[in-house]
Amino acid sequence: EQLRHTIEQMPKAELHIHIEGSLEPELIFALAQRNGVTLAYPSVETLREAYAFSDLQSFLDIYYAGASVLLTEQDFYDMTAAYLARAAADNVRHTEIFFDPQTHTARGVPFETAINGIWRACQDAPISAALIMCFLRHLSEEEALATLEESLPHRDKFIGVGLDSSEVGHPPEKFARVFERARQLGLRLVAHAGEEGPPSYIESALDVLKVERIDHGVRCLESPALVERLVRERMALTVCPLSNIKLRVFDVMGSHNLRTLLDKGLAATVNSDDPAYFGGYMNDNFVAAFESLPLDASHARQLARNSFEAAFLDPEQKRAFL
Ligand code: ADE
Ligand code: ZN
Repeated sequence: EQLRHTIEQMPKAELHIHIEGSLEPELIFALAQRNGVTLAYPSVETLREAYAFSDLQSFLDIYYAGASVLLTEQDFYDMTAAYLARAAADNVRHTEIFFDPQTHTARGVPFETAINGIWRACQDAPISAALIMCFLRHLSEEEALATLEESLPHRDKFIGVGLDSSEVGHPPEKFARVFERARQLGLRLVAHAGEEGPPSYIESALDVLKVERIDHGVRCLESPALVERLVRERMALTVCPLSNIKLRVFDVMGSHNLRTLLDKGLAATVNSDDPAYFGGYMNDNFVAAFESLPLDASHARQLARNSFEAAFLDPEQKRAFL
């Protein structure tokens, strides 16, 4: 109805989207065929049926398997172009896209093949788009440092670095040196924290890594002192409602804490995380949360304002979007 129309038409920024997580089963099969790759699933339907996750790790296993069909620069271009067209249809006006180079270099796909395909699609995009290179936290800091060095010839193609993959057991401190080096290089800094991990991981992402946004961060409510700090510092949280339900961070959307985050004055935003795996893109995430929680049009507009406020754009660029 009216609220859905408000959500759909309002300009918004997406700040938490893994491009490898936008790979739809149909495109996975098309790329497998194009590249002569054999998949462990016989059909699009059986692959989609495997998208029943019990936690973050059970998702990551299938997400890395899906990415194995990406071999050529054109594959990366096609994946990214499909996401950008879909985001534009949701009135996303600006997007900051994560990519996981180590998922590809570990399979023998050159760094430049991945970044050039993704970057070229961003250049051709109908909307504003920037890239954030993520380090896989289940791998070592040495491997992250090597990836950062390997990225330097492409320094002009991405605006920042992030930290993703298996959170628990891989605290932010593990990546202190690589984030320090990235900061010296003038890169913007973000990290996943407080998705499955405890509030202390959010604190160390801020204190040790010196990140400028927290990806997810929903477990912050377990620490009132941390909430007070996040509000005071106006630290953005890139919340992903459908992801949180599919990965069982919350049992059902009705128990998601998005409304509470907003009520406490936190700079929460709504994002899709891995839309091909979690059942929807940007507007699907808004609609799912707004159907199950006591949220109205003023919350929708607040979330959209928060998304531009938290974006890595100049003030003039932000004004042009709002
Ligand atoms: N990689 C892709 N999606 C992720 C998520 N939600 N958390 C951690 N790593 C990820
Ligand atoms: Zn994520």
